[in-house]
Amino acid sequence: MTLTELEPDALTQLLADQQAAYAELKARGLKLDLTRGKPSAEQLDLSNALLTLPGDGEFRDSSGTDCRNYGGIEGVADLRAIFGELLGVPVDQLIAGDNASLAIMHDVIVFALLKGVPGAAGPWAGEKIKFICPVPGYDRHFSICQQYGIEMINVDLGDEGPDLDQIRELVKDPAVKGIWTVPTYANPSGSIYTEEITRQLVSLETAAPDFRIFWDNAYALHHLTETETPVLDVLGLAEAAGHPDRVLIFASTSKITFAGAGVSFFASSPANVAWYLGLLGKRTIGPNKINQLAHARYLGSAAGVRALMAQHRAIIAPKFDRVEQILADRLGAYGVASWTEPQGGYFVSLDVTDGTASRVVQLAKEAGIVMTGAGSAFPYGKDPRDRNIRIAPTFPTPEDVELAIDGLATCVLLAAAEQRLAG
Ligand SMILES: Cc1ncc(COP(=O)(O)O)c(C=O)c1O
Repeated sequence: MTLTELEPDALTQLLADQQAAYAELKARGLKLDLTRGKPSAEQLDLSNALLTLPGDGEFRDSSGTDCRNYGGIEGVADLRAIFGELLGVPVDQLIAGDNASLAIMHDVIVFALLKGVPGAAGPWAGEKIKFICPVPGYDRHFSICQQYGIEMINVDLGDEGPDLDQIRELVKDPAVKGIWTVPTYANPSGSIYTEEITRQLVSLETAAPDFRIFWDNAYALHHLTETETPVLDVLGLAEAAGHPDRVLIFASTSKITFAGAGVSFFASSPANVAWYLGLLGKRTIGPNKINQLAHARYLGSAAGVRALMAQHRAIIAPKFDRVEQILADRLGAYGVASWTEPQGGYFVSLDVTDGTASRVVQLAKEAGIVMTGAGSAFPYGKDPRDRNIRIAPTFPTPEDVELAIDGLATCVLLAAAEQRLAG
């Protein structure tokens, strides 16, 4: 019987039961952290061989560049070849960078603000700028916008991509210059953009001639099942739609090798790549090519990356299974929450009863279970319905995941019963 169907007596009893369960939970003195989507130590251990590479002897990549030296701003050819294949982009339109794709996204925004992008009348900074933000989404995308005064507009994100009707209206405004997307296994919803939605996005008639899609394919290869969601040829689709410069692709090996010491990637049209490299060349003489060469040798080929990702999956998929199982067992009957069952990526997105997410996160915190703040998956940290909680199960041990989600379920029920009785 769902919570709304319970008779007042049964509801009062449920509240008392959850209060007792919560008191017990608190008494356990847990110290659990489910805040950030980080790989676990066991996952990082998979790539320890990287630390012995490139080894003594040969420091040249296959194009003859000595990776110990300055230069080679576009990155090591061998590594770009591997990821060109995996990300479905031509190698000469793919740049390999340093350890964080977020840094490239940040730079691209700053470059656009200060210098404008190809096709722009001038620097974005001279104008009022707005970005479309499918929600829930990745908090650090939103922090970049907030940092630089770019106004953010929420758009609903469904399982197959963002609401195109809402977007079609918004792009009539020339101040709307961009949209953040995480097209494969989105953070945190797990959404997978379909080819049709992608085609429509790249085909949009926008008032801004320099409208850009920030295509952050951070989880392109991070499958949780044996079914591998194919990577879309988004650059080809954009070109075919007559908007060759619309899409900026970002990716990295942060959750393939080392989250702090991997390699990032940027891919786009020839014009955008030339624009980016021209500006990047003032910022650095070249990336850390030794790390890129080590990656190329360690990963070996696209098949080598896929094999490594299967090892990651074997470690993390059971943790996701436990999250889904516990949520179903503890909450399924009450109709107080819904959650995603992602086919890939790093998160489960939990929607609790409207108006209770902040209370749930607070209750959990007081019981020693730290969740990402309520509202963090929304621009300005404001979830209009105060219902979304991001669960990041990869980092803790399976035992800690179980303890945390079980405790969280108690908090969800308690907050829902409190609200119902108060209302
Ligand atoms: C959608 C998304 N993009 C980018 C990143 C960060 O990527 P990187 O480590 O390459 O900066 C994350 C990390 O959680 C993410 O979820």
